[in-house]
Amino acid sequence: MRIDIITLHPALLEGPFSHSILKRAQEKGLAEIHLIDLRNYATNKHKNVDDYPYGGGAGMVMMVEPIANCIEDLKSQRDYEEVIYMSPDGELFDQPMANQLSLKGNLIILCGHYKGVDERVREHFITKEISIGDYVLSGGELAAAVVADAVIRLLPGVLNDETSALSDSFQDNLVAPPVYSRPAEFRDWKVPDVLLSGHEANIQQWRYEESVKRTKERRPGLLDKE
Ligand code: ADE
Repeated sequence: MRIDIITLHPALLEGPFSHSILKRAQEKGLAEIHLIDLRNYATNKHKNVDDYPYGGGAGMVMMVEPIANCIEDLKSQRDYEEVIYMSPDGELFDQPMANQLSLKGNLIILCGHYKGVDERVREHFITKEISIGDYVLSGGELAAAVVADAVIRLLPGVLNDETSALSDSFQDNLVAPPVYSRPAEFRDWKVPDVLLSGHEANIQQWRYEESVKRTKERRPGLLDKE
């Protein structure tokens, strides 16, 4: 999978992709992330990428021309399955959406800033708009990093233990059960006996029941999802 992220702040995104699992996914050749500086596609000598909104009002708007040039340049080099725009008014990101995106080939993610992008970008280039939650970030970069992380860790071979993404919270509309490690007793806080029993069927049953209990307590809405 290849993800091209169009941004005004490539340096802001270098960190999240150069550590841990996302770094290893790229080193193994399972994911390619390219950070594309939108300013390189500015058309005037001041390298402007934003301008005042027609009709007045507060805030600046990201201009259509640099974005159009950037996306068209990328598309002239390869095909893309989605051109995603990160925006608080997009479709809410969740695990099923991450699963779907992990099956795609090449993606473009455009990070918004200021008051957003000229509407013509959305009309003519964007195929999917994603929000990571009902709050406003200062730009789409952190949201793009969240989406890319959630998607890349699902790619086959990225996680060491192939089953571990399947046992994540949300994969079956349940949150994950509690986990414990050594020591079996710390102060007088004990690990549940069943986990020490070695009885695989009982352990699976306990984990499932704990997942259901937690989901009812913490995220009852998940139980109504398909
Ligand atoms: N840009 C600003 N806020 C955002 C959000 N909540 N989700 C996605 N992109 C954003």
